[in-house]
Amino acid sequence: MPFIIAIDGPAAAGKGTIARALAAHFGFHHLDTGLLYRAIGAKGGDPVAAARSLQPGDLDRPDLRSAEAGQAASRIAALPEVRAALVDFQHRFAAQEPGAVLDGRDIGTVICPDAAVKLFVTASDQVRAQRRAAELGADADEMLIQLQERDRRDRDRAAAPLKPAPDAVLLDTSHLTIAEAIARAIAQVEKARTAV
Ligand code: DC
Repeated sequence: MPFIIAIDGPAAAGKGTIARALAAHFGFHHLDTGLLYRAIGAKGGDPVAAARSLQPGDLDRPDLRSAEAGQAASRIAALPEVRAALVDFQHRFAAQEPGAVLDGRDIGTVICPDAAVKLFVTASDQVRAQRRAAELGADADEMLIQLQERDRRDRDRAAAPLKPAPDAVLLDTSHLTIAEAIARAIAQVEKARTAV
């Protein structure tokens, strides 16, 4: 049985950084599931058709990291048919030996509810806006408005809304360095591995 780590949380909380570090540390595969939704938004046209014909190469576009691509992704991610079209891809990815780390919004709740480890990564709105502004070279106040709008949409949608799984471990990275956040995540995984 592959070992699955599910990491969810709002935008710019540190999910991606933690997911990449865990995958490197444990030698697992990593999928940033936000890229799936970003790639569909970037393709334009009918999002359901785009979701059904998504190819792994579509995830390599350099423009997918922009704030606009994030907003477009959040809008199309509310469509149940888009989400349904992406489930098989994510399940196949998660089934790879020796294990996989998937980060997103609904991994622990919908995609991999049986994951061995579930982390829900958060940080204060202000800290997240500052981090994302520094990353994209944008204005922090503008980022704050955009992040809050996106989180609200992701939380309030009917289809697979952003929320912690009941058995997720909460990791607030507001006052942690990247190294500290990664160390805590590794400790959670080690705990689950020894419990198996
Ligand atoms: O993680 P991200 O910022 O790249 O995600 C972009 C958008 O995609 C996010 O605002 C909501 C959507 N998303 C989702 O609905 N479910 C996921 N598992 C991952 C992302």
